[in-house]
Amino acid sequence: MTTRTTNRTTNRRRTADRRVRRRTREGGGPGRPPSTRGLLLDLDAPSIDLARRHLVGSGVEDRVTFEVRDAADPALAHRYDLVTVFEALHDMSYPVEVLRAARGLLADGGVVLVGDERTAESFAAPADDLERLYYGFSILHCLPVGMVGDGAVGTGTVMRPTTVDAYARDAGFARVEVAPIENDFWRFYLLRP
Ligand SMILES: C[S@@+](CC[C@H](N)C(=O)[O-])C[C@H]1O[C@@H](n2cnc3c(N)ncnc32)[C@H](O)[C@@H]1O
Repeated sequence: MTTRTTNRTTNRRRTADRRVRRRTREGGGPGRPPSTRGLLLDLDAPSIDLARRHLVGSGVEDRVTFEVRDAADPALAHRYDLVTVFEALHDMSYPVEVLRAARGLLADGGVVLVGDERTAESFAAPADDLERLYYGFSILHCLPVGMVGDGAVGTGTVMRPTTVDAYARDAGFARVEVAPIENDFWRFYLLRP
């Protein structure tokens, strides 16, 4: 099985990835709740097909759009209050370019939220069970897919906070913080221009 096929097969079970939410005010009168518009991107067409099927009957069909598209596409337009990247940054061949594109999408006061594996702060041996599990995922999937393409960085599942910080700063973010969200498996990063 090729890397591309492996990637497709795995991703078929997963929903669309890059979530870009634009919050707009409708009507603007007092008491009217804000509505949220979402553009969700993934390179993987089967994931987008699945997401579109889930959207049917959800009641938000008119507010959510899915596209097969590279999140690093510089042609991405619009201004968004929130750009999210969930469980995907470590899979990307060019994470800095994707974060740079995400930064370019932000409206004033906007923020990028990255959710990724809660790895240990630094490498230690022996690693605990979770860290070993992440390394297992990494060699079987995440590292190979992140090595596709000329100059791909090949991050792998075990993306530590220092790596996220370095990618974000290379992409032009001035502030990177770990959000105070407790979870055994996930860590959430807030990136601000
Ligand atoms: C591990 S999956 C996570 C999927 C989903 N977010 C989830 O949590 O189930 C990583 C996803 O990132 C997508 N991806 C990788 N690089 C991308 C890029 N440059 N632009 C858009 N999507 C990308 C892959 O196609 C894959 O679906």
